[in-house]
Formats: sequence, structure tokens, C-alpha cells
Amino acid sequence: MNRNVVAGNWKSNTGFNEAKSLTRAIAEATGDTESQVIIAPPAPYLAALKELCGAALALAAQNCSAYDMGAYTGEHTAQMLADVGVSHVIVGHSERRQLYGETDEVVAAKVHQVSAAGLHPIICVGESLEERESGEHMNVVKRQLQKGFFDVLDAAKAADVIIAYEPVWAIGTGRTASATQAQEMHLFIRQWVHEAYGQMADRMPILYGGSVKPENAEELFSQPDVDGGLIGGASLNAADFISIIKANDKWITAN
Ligand code: PGA
Repeated sequence: MNRNVVAGNWKSNTGFNEAKSLTRAIAEATGDTESQVIIAPPAPYLAALKELCGAALALAAQNCSAYDMGAYTGEHTAQMLADVGVSHVIVGHSERRQLYGETDEVVAAKVHQVSAAGLHPIICVGESLEERESGEHMNVVKRQLQKGFFDVLDAAKAADVIIAYEPVWAIGTGRTASATQAQEMHLFIRQWVHEAYGQMADRMPILYGGSVKPENAEELFSQPDVDGGLIGGASLNAADFISIIKANDKWITAN
């Protein structure tokens, strides 16, 4: 797996036509990128957008069911996503934790489903402002990793994981973690992965998310343990998203 990743989380945005043109524009730009590029459009569009992605652009879902197939009205299973060509699933995004009450246990069940379907979980972790201000941020992230990742996946399955560190106070707020704050947490996460799973920590993509834009991407991505980003708002504009991908590529090529 490429350690350098830029993923776009479209959230509950875009009409179908807009989603198609955005996918086409991004797919066209990803042929020669160094970074693995992933888009996570709204679920109803996934099957149709797969046709437009081409070989280089990977498709992610923003969520999946914590259960297998069955009587769970409104849910889509990880296996259904796999069947239509999805390769990655975002799990544990702070909006799901906060707005839909997803606990560490629910996140764990979803990570299990994603992994069992042979897909890559993109596991989101991150602290609230209150937790950062009280100095609890490392403990919070450690708990999220322990329960949603280590308690669920053995070493063979863990190798498929992408981690996204997204401080809740930086998501959609225009307030970004400083490059130093991001690096400090990313190093902490990599050390945790190293203790939990050994050498694979060196190959695991650890992405930063929270108000990444073309203007701040390069500084964030230049940090040694920041391997790319999970981009929300700026991924809805093809030019901005492509410029963020290029910022990551530039750093990879320079090293
Ligand atoms: P943002 O969202 O870039 O709009 O802050 C990031 C995310 O929620 O993944």
C-alpha cells in the first residue's frame, strides 16, 4: 500500500451531475500522481461513479453497517460496497460519533465488517477542543485506537488500515492544527502502531484532516509523519483538491 494518500470526504454534498463532473475532473488528474487518491462521495452515487474512476482513482464509502446483511432498514453492508467496486470505507468520523452517537464499540463493529469484506478501513480518530485544552488529547486518541483498531484487527488485517487524525475542533471550522501539533500527534500514533503491530507502522498511512486547503497543505504534508490528508470542504472543488494532491506529490518527489 502506498503510504502517501489524499482522500476527499464529500460528506452529504453534491447533486448527481455535480458528483459525476467532479469525479471526471479528479480521475483525469490522478493518472500521474505519486499519492494514492481516494474520493468518498455520497453512497447513492458510488456504483455509477465507479465507472468514471479509472484505474488510478480509488472509491470510498463514508460509512457502512455495523452488521452483516439482514433486517436493518436503511443500512448498507461493507460487502455491498465491495460488490460495487468500493475499496475503502471511512469509519468513526467525528460527525458520526457526535451526530449519530457512534461509540467506540460501534466503530469497532464497523471496522470488523470493512475488514471482513476485504476493504481498507480509514479509521478516524481525534479529540474535541475541551479534551485538547484539558491535556487529554493523547489519551483520547489512544483509547479510540485501542478500541476501534487494536481490539478488532490482527496484524495481517491491520496492514490494510489507513488512520486519519482529525482534531474535532479543526473540522469545517477553518481552524487548522499547526504543523507542529499535527506532527506531534502523528508521531504519537505511529509509535502506538509500532508498539501494537511492529514494523508495519513505518508503512501505515497516517492522514491529517481538518480544514486542509491548498494554502496550508504543503506545510502540513511536509511533516515527517503526516502522509497526506482527509479533505472535507476543499475536496468539493476539483481545482483545490488537485492542488492539495500536488502539494503532497511535491513533498514525496522532493524526498
Ligand atoms: P474539512 O473536513 O476539511 O471540511 O475540515 C475534514 C473532514 O471532516 O474529513
